[in-house]
Amino acid sequence: MSGFDIVPIAPGDHALVQSWLAVGEAVERHDWRDSMGWQPTRRMVALLQRRSDADTERWAAVEDGRALGWIALTVPVRDNTHLAEFTIEVHPGHRRRGVGSALLAHAERRAAELGRNTFSTWAPVPIPEGDPVGDTAAGFAAATGYRNTLEHVVQICDLDSVDEAGLEQLWTEALRRAEGFELVTFEGAPPAELRNGLAYLYARMYTDMPLGEWDLQEADFDGERLLESARLQRERGELNLHTAVRHIDSGDIAGFTEITVEGGREHHCHQGNTIVDPRFRGHRLGTVIKIANQRRLREWRPKMRYVWTGNATSNTHMIAINEAIGYRRFCGEHVYQKKTA
Ligand SMILES: CC(C)(COP(=O)(O)OP(=O)(O)OC[C@H]1O[C@@H](n2cnc3c(N)ncnc32)[C@H](O)[C@@H]1OP(=O)(O)O)[C@@H](O)C(=O)NCCC(=O)NCCS
Repeated sequence: MSGFDIVPIAPGDHALVQSWLAVGEAVERHDWRDSMGWQPTRRMVALLQRRSDADTERWAAVEDGRALGWIALTVPVRDNTHLAEFTIEVHPGHRRRGVGSALLAHAERRAAELGRNTFSTWAPVPIPEGDPVGDTAAGFAAATGYRNTLEHVVQICDLDSVDEAGLEQLWTEALRRAEGFELVTFEGAPPAELRNGLAYLYARMYTDMPLGEWDLQEADFDGERLLESARLQRERGELNLHTAVRHIDSGDIAGFTEITVEGGREHHCHQGNTIVDPRFRGHRLGTVIKIANQRRLREWRPKMRYVWTGNATSNTHMIAINEAIGYRRFCGEHVYQKKTA
């Protein structure tokens, strides 16, 4: 091993930042087969941002002035203060020489200093019916003492191939079952009257989604946290489209879904959180909000082509809804976890 140093990625070190981005681009081409359309804006802007609910530190392994790989350590500070989350990437031309394990050991030491005892990282894994993606994660995780604690499936929807007639039929049937509810939409920051209801549902995402053995615990959300998140998205140049559904009699927010379009990324976007409050399940609200938001996406970005999402493989309802509205399975994703105490 050795021959490289591990240094913090400072935003003002332009040469290091460029070579760090080059690692990201190479990994995306190699491990994701260039399927997501490389776009560095989000990574670059995130270097300058500070969240109040989590701290992030980033280091690169550098040799002869060039980054060979890098790791980010994120520690939540508002809830889940036992956790440390890592993102790790090593340039495909510099693998199997100890770069990844040295970066990981460095970040683990720092996480321990910060009082964390549960380390986790998400990684792509190939699945038989999916597209070919990099298959390095399982071996690396095993070698570094991590266990697979949650299996996800990554799905992709090609909006140009959606069966619009079928979608319209699904929409009409679902709407019939959703009597007594109304749709509410917004972009960016949530309006004041929705914030408390949304904050409650954001917190429920941490407890309601299937988590396997991944030790994610209850979260603490309020309107301020949602506003901060919307501000950070705006600074990154992201468009965030929400469709929520309100129970007309009580005025309660019964569910919501969101799609995020990253700054500069014209053909690929991300379907994020979707939740229906357990009190209001069984009215096809999940289908209604997903179709409605997908249609809004096309209004805002008529040339948008691919929507990506991920769900626990055990979340069969959500996966079935996605398949009904045009998604197919792309690859798997595992949450690898290590506990130190
Ligand atoms: C996973 C990754 C970070 C490993 O980086 P790396 O610098 O090659 O890792 P190391 O050289 O430190 O490997 C340490 C050990 O992990 C295991 N390992 C690493 N890659 C492996 C692979 N492709 N297949 C099987 N085992 C592997 C080996 O036991 C290796 O030791 P060895 O080379 O002496 O046999 C890198 O392949 C990568 O960037 N992959 C794509 C991004 C990703 O999946 N990130 C999430 C990782 S959980």
